[in-house]
Amino acid sequence: MSITQTLLRSRLLEALTSPHGVDRYLEVVNPMWAAREVRARIVDVRREVDVPGHPPVATITLQPTSTWQGHRAGQHVQLGVEINGARRTTRVFSVSSHEAGPGQRFTITLRANPDGVVSQHLVERAEPGTIVHLSQAEGDFTLPAHVPGHVVMISGGSGITPLMSMLRTLQRRTHRGRVTFIHYAQSPEHQIFAEELADVARTGYGVDLHLLHPELGDPALSPAWLERLVPGYRDVPTWACGPAPLIEAARAAYDDGSDALRVEYFKTPSVSNGSTEGEINFARAGTSATNSGATLLEQAEGAGLSPEFGCRMGICFSCTSRKTEGTVVNVLTGETSSLPDEDIRICVSAPEGDCTLDI
Ligand SMILES: Cc1cc2nc3c(=O)[nH]c(=O)nc-3n(C[C@H](O)[C@H](O)[C@H](O)COP(=O)(O)OP(=O)(O)OC[C@H]3O[C@@H](n4cnc5c(N)ncnc54)[C@H](O)[C@@H]3O)c2cc1C
Ligand code: FES
Repeated sequence: MSITQTLLRSRLLEALTSPHGVDRYLEVVNPMWAAREVRARIVDVRREVDVPGHPPVATITLQPTSTWQGHRAGQHVQLGVEINGARRTTRVFSVSSHEAGPGQRFTITLRANPDGVVSQHLVERAEPGTIVHLSQAEGDFTLPAHVPGHVVMISGGSGITPLMSMLRTLQRRTHRGRVTFIHYAQSPEHQIFAEELADVARTGYGVDLHLLHPELGDPALSPAWLERLVPGYRDVPTWACGPAPLIEAARAAYDDGSDALRVEYFKTPSVSNGSTEGEINFARAGTSATNSGATLLEQAEGAGLSPEFGCRMGICFSCTSRKTEGTVVNVLTGETSSLPDEDIRICVSAPEGDCTLDI
């Protein structure tokens, strides 16, 4: 750490600049100066996929402040933007570029969700020069330090992003092992990173590439198909990311508990194994709804409420609300909790039976 950075992060300076903190003053002078916070300047926005009538996909290159500590392949970042001067809105995006160190540029690649606030803004309206707010890179959906001799990567749609980061990283490391890379897209026109993957198919030593379009007759993910492609696949370390049905198919193919399979969801799977019968009481709003088994965030939205949210995946804690009564199941881990007066992340909590929330 340089002397300037040590000074900027000192307790004395923090106390002198209280209550706003040194970063507020630095930001005014130059938004790319920061002592603790992480920000980034957008340096490029490039369309990856643009099929008329379908949501476009773009890759955004970010130059982070020197406070960025770098990322490992497969990690994600919380990105906050101020849209039309409104309060900052935060969403989570996987890094799509290869692993990189502190302060180095990286990319995210995102699909403009037709009803989405942040993805629409970034893909359709963000321009070079725009400043965004970041967390440090997070998540343990990553490659191990010593990559096994053979790995399988399975993705669908925009779920390709963390796996592309892994593939790019392995290629830069001149990994000598074998990579079976399986990706599902709606059609060849919807293929993200199409040109680069075509190059990989031509020149990528050790990479076995399978770009599939089940809607055009290609095989869907199944144990029999995987076994033909990778004999003994259940013992081969595998990373999978994509829409919930693809992840469910992967889990089923790996017998739902195999240590070989690691998964990343972009959207919560809608599962609740317990009883969904009951009433959800939104105490502060003075309204209630019949339990549908969906997450409490979705049920609150269904009842016309607008609780705060960010990632909708249990990562950012912005949806944390107090449950005063009832049992909830975490839709990602399957853990249940019946404690009264507990703070829960409503985006990943589905109620079993009756439940009362202080929202
Ligand atoms: C770990 C992780 C990594 C990710 N990586 C990527 C990536 O690399 N690329 C990528 O494209 N995406 C990625 N995502 C998804 C991304 O975080 C966003 O969820 C996505 O871009 C949509 O955000 P948005 O702000 O555009 O949409 P939002 O405004 O969040 O809306 C999304 C959906 O939420 C629902 N919704 C929102 N508000 C309401 C309401 N008031 N009432 C009812 N329903 C509502 C709607 O169904 C809407 O379609 C990732 C997610 C996670 C968790
Ligand atoms: S919205 Fe991020 S934890 Fe719930």
